[in-house]
Amino acid sequence: MNLLLYRVLWGLGVTSWERMQAFGAEQVSAMFDHEEQGRQPPYGAALDLGFGTGFWSVNLAERGWDVTGVEIVPKALRAARERAHKAGVEVRFLDGSVAALREPRVGSGFLLALDFGTVHGLSPGELKAVAREVSAVTTDASPSFQTI
Ligand SMILES: C[S@@+](CC[C@H](N)C(=O)[O-])C[C@H]1O[C@@H](n2cnc3c(N)ncnc32)[C@H](O)[C@@H]1O
Repeated sequence: MNLLLYRVLWGLGVTSWERMQAFGAEQVSAMFDHEEQGRQPPYGAALDLGFGTGFWSVNLAERGWDVTGVEIVPKALRAARERAHKAGVEVRFLDGSVAALREPRVGSGFLLALDFGTVHGLSPGELKAVAREVSAVTTDASPSFQTI
């Protein structure tokens, strides 16, 4: 889905992709369990690519990850900040593109990068950029890039 369409959908308040969270919950939780296995929180830095209303960002923060999210639509940031506030967790929600992560404010050293429904909608050029950028900001030590 291209950016213009996302802007229109967000403008209309249509975030129907959120229905997928229920379908993906078991699989995503299993992936998080796998990453956390044998460790104690805090688990380290996690990156949520295109966080939407912040569902997975908040879930990761509640589990004990230090979460940074990057999202391109301003309305999403407001919704996600509200969700985190209600949940009582700290998440660094940033405006920006997942195809341009190498900025000081995003940081680096991420142990986990999550894509739930964002990257597959990008153009081939953006996809290449995301691969390059995620590689640059994740750690060399077994970085985990979970894409759904
Ligand atoms: C299908 S939604 C998924 C949202 C969230 N991951 C979830 O599971 O609810 C994709 C999100 O990616 C955002 N997005 C699209 N292109 C982006 C880009 N280049 N950089 C950052 N966010 C982007 C959209 O605004 C939208 O909120």
